[in-house]
Amino acid sequence: MSRKLSMIRDVDKHINDTVTIGCWLHNKRSSGKIQFLQLRDGSGYIQGVVVKSEVAPEVWEAAAKLTQESSLYVTGTVREDTRSKGGFELNVTGVEIIQITSDYPITPKEHGVDYLMDYRHLWIRTPRQRAILVVRAQIIRAIQQFFDERGFQLVDPPILTPSSCEGTTNLFHTKYFDEDAYLTQSGQLYMEAAAMALGRVYSFGPTFRAEKSKTRRHLIEFWMIEPEMAFVGHEENLEVQEQFVSYIIESVLKHCAKELEVLERDVTKLAKITAPFPRITYDEAVDFLKANGHEFEWGEDFGAPHETAIAANYDRPVFITHWPTEIKAFYMKPDPNRPEVVLCADMIAPEGYGEIIGGSQRIDDPELMEERFTEHELSKEAYQWYLDLRKYGSVPHSGFGLGLERTVAWICGLDHVRETIPFPRLLYRLYP
Ligand code: 4AD
Ligand code: MG
Repeated sequence: MSRKLSMIRDVDKHINDTVTIGCWLHNKRSSGKIQFLQLRDGSGYIQGVVVKSEVAPEVWEAAAKLTQESSLYVTGTVREDTRSKGGFELNVTGVEIIQITSDYPITPKEHGVDYLMDYRHLWIRTPRQRAILVVRAQIIRAIQQFFDERGFQLVDPPILTPSSCEGTTNLFHTKYFDEDAYLTQSGQLYMEAAAMALGRVYSFGPTFRAEKSKTRRHLIEFWMIEPEMAFVGHEENLEVQEQFVSYIIESVLKHCAKELEVLERDVTKLAKITAPFPRITYDEAVDFLKANGHEFEWGEDFGAPHETAIAANYDRPVFITHWPTEIKAFYMKPDPNRPEVVLCADMIAPEGYGEIIGGSQRIDDPELMEERFTEHELSKEAYQWYLDLRKYGSVPHSGFGLGLERTVAWICGLDHVRETIPFPRLLYRLYP
C-alpha cells in the first residue's frame, strides 16, 4: 500500500492541507444536505463534514452507506474549527470504503457490564475505554522514566517459579514437565538477588494470584512494578515511594488532560497529590478505627472498609507503617526497638481506592532469616539460593510493589479494576 496516511492526533500540523486518514466510523448524523461523520483512528477523533453540493455523487453515496464501525480511508481538507470538540474538522472530498459493518454488537445505547465484558475485544474501541488505556500507557511511560532518571536497571524475574513469595494460599499451580511449578505472585525474591548484583533495580511484569475474592480491587492476573534497592532502609524506601507516585500523577495530568476529561475525572483531587505523604503507624490506625466505632483487635488485617475510613482523613495517599510481624510476610525486617512490628508500609490511596503499594525493609541477618524459615515452615532446599543472598555479602535493603491496575483505577476514578486492563482475568472470566 503506497498511500501516505495522516493520524488524527497530528491534524493540527496540517491546517488547510488535504490529508488521507485510515479510520472507522464512530457515529453519524445527516441533515439531508450535509453528513457529519464522527471518525476515529485510535489516535483521536475528528468530525468529517460531507457537503452534498460540493462532492462528487459517489463520495456522497459512499458516506451515506457508512454504518457504525465501518472502516474507510477518508480524504479531506483540515479546517480549524473552534466549535468542534477537538478544535478541527475535516472537509471531506473523498471516501474509500474498506468494509461496511453490519450488526455491530455495541450500539450507542446502554449495555450491561457482563455483556460488555463478553465483547471486551470491541468494547475497548469506545471513547471511555480508549481513554483508560491511553492513561494506562502514560502511567507505564512515567514509571519507566522515573526509574531511568534515577539510575535503576530494569530486570525481568521469571514467571514460572518453583516456590511462593507471598504465601501459598493463592498460588497458581502448573506442571513443569515432571516437576511442579507456580505462576509468579511477585518477583521480589529474585529482585533481591538482582539488587545485590546491580544496586538499584526494578521489575515490571505480570503477576498471578488465584484469589477467590470477587471484589472491585482484585484481579487474578495483574501487573506489578517492583523496585529493590541495596543499602536503603525503611525511611528512604517511603521517600522513593511518595516521589514515585507523585511523579506518575504529575505526568498523567500533563499528558492526558483530554482523556481525564472524557473520564470526567475531578483533576483538582489529583493535583493535590504531592510528596511528602502522611505516615501513621498501624497502632495509630487501630486507635483511630476503635475511636470511630469499628470493632477491631490489634493483630488483625485491615479490610477494605477500614482502609477507606483511614484514607478519608487525608487528601493524598497515606502510609500505614509498622505492622504486626505475625500478619506480614516472612522476609520483613523487625523494628529493632520493637520486634513485634516490622519495618514495612502499605500505601493507601485516597477516595477509597485502597492499598496500591506494599513494601518493606528486608531481613538481612542470616540467622534471623533461618529462624523465619522454620517458623513459616518454608523449605530451605527450595529457597537455598535466596538464603545465599544473606550469606554472601548481605546488606540492608528495601523494596516495594506497586499494583498497576489499582493505580490506573484511582487515577482514572473508576469503580472497578476490570476496566483498567485490556483483557481482565477475573474470578469467573477467562474470555475473551
Ligand atoms: O502487597 P503485595 O502482596 O506485595 C508484594 O507482593 C511484595 N512482594 C511487593 C514487594 O515488596 N516487592 O502486592 C503489592 C501490590 C498491592 O499493594 C496491590 O496494589 C497489588 O500489588 N495487588 C493486586 N492488584 C490487583 N489484584 C490483586 N489480586 C492484587 N494483589 C496485590
Ligand atoms: Mg499487601
